[in-house]
Amino acid sequence: MKHFLDIDQVSAEDLSSIIDDAIQVKESRKGFTNGQLDRDASLTGCVVALIFEKPSTRTRVSFDVGVRQLGGQSLILSGADMQLGHGESVSDTAQVLSRYVDLIMIRTFSAETLRELSEHSTVPVINGLTDHSHPCQIMADILTFEEKRGSISGKEILWIGDGNNVCNSLIQASAKFNFLLKFSGPSALDPDKKVVKAAIADGAAFEIQRDVDAAVKSADLIITDSWVSMHHSESDRSSLHNVLAEYQVNENLMNKTKKDALFMHCLPAHRGEEVTSQVLDGKNSVVFDEAENRLHVQKAIMRWCLNKI
Ligand code: CP
Ligand code: NVA
Repeated sequence: MKHFLDIDQVSAEDLSSIIDDAIQVKESRKGFTNGQLDRDASLTGCVVALIFEKPSTRTRVSFDVGVRQLGGQSLILSGADMQLGHGESVSDTAQVLSRYVDLIMIRTFSAETLRELSEHSTVPVINGLTDHSHPCQIMADILTFEEKRGSISGKEILWIGDGNNVCNSLIQASAKFNFLLKFSGPSALDPDKKVVKAAIADGAAFEIQRDVDAAVKSADLIITDSWVSMHHSESDRSSLHNVLAEYQVNENLMNKTKKDALFMHCLPAHRGEEVTSQVLDGKNSVVFDEAENRLHVQKAIMRWCLNKI
């Protein structure tokens, strides 16, 4: 079964094939309207369940539109409206859904729920974000970088802020795609040590540099994310703001980077908090191409899961 649960669970070769497929299918749709079917409507006859236990704009719409472009049918399910949100077990849910659909994408809280769902499902499962990781986002970021700057291998990527779920997937990607990853943020929000250790064992080059002004100088790509993620509790908001304030990505910081350094953010952004509008809308920012690429890369991920590439 080809589940897409985390970047460290897929071979480097398969991850590259997914990126290549996304580039090809995106290119072949030039001039198409968004609702037009792909030339190779490879999900014809397939139904895809899209389960959301947390809010979403990009993941929800890009997966739904992606399934439609591939000729499949999608069901958007809110976790709260399913029996899953009212005491039914994850394993029973997985076994039941497997009788109705051909593929499951889930956005959920714990990585354990995702793991259990995939263990009991007889159809492929895709991780659409957990508290622990967000692999589809990082695949879109790599596609975006490679479109703009060529191979990401050997490049220097800087993550600024909270070492969160998106950062964990980036750390795993650094081993698979061979880029140097630097982390600049407060020590209290360092990324998961287990993720870092496993990535280093898998060949990753990972460094922590607290001085963000120094860290940005040599970066080819700067990435940040919200100070407060969906898995944080409201009571943590003010302490997160306090420790992360000095890591805001603003014009002053971007003036210290290489001229052609790219800026990415998975969105939703909180303008004036982790990033200013000048940077988000500025010349280095590729955030809307990055958002668009969620669509293209997730179509390739679905195709990979269903052995179409
Ligand atoms: N970047 C991302 O996953 O966005 P949504 O929360 O809107 O899906
Ligand atoms: N780190 C953020 C990403 C949102 C797409 C969160 O988990 O809320």
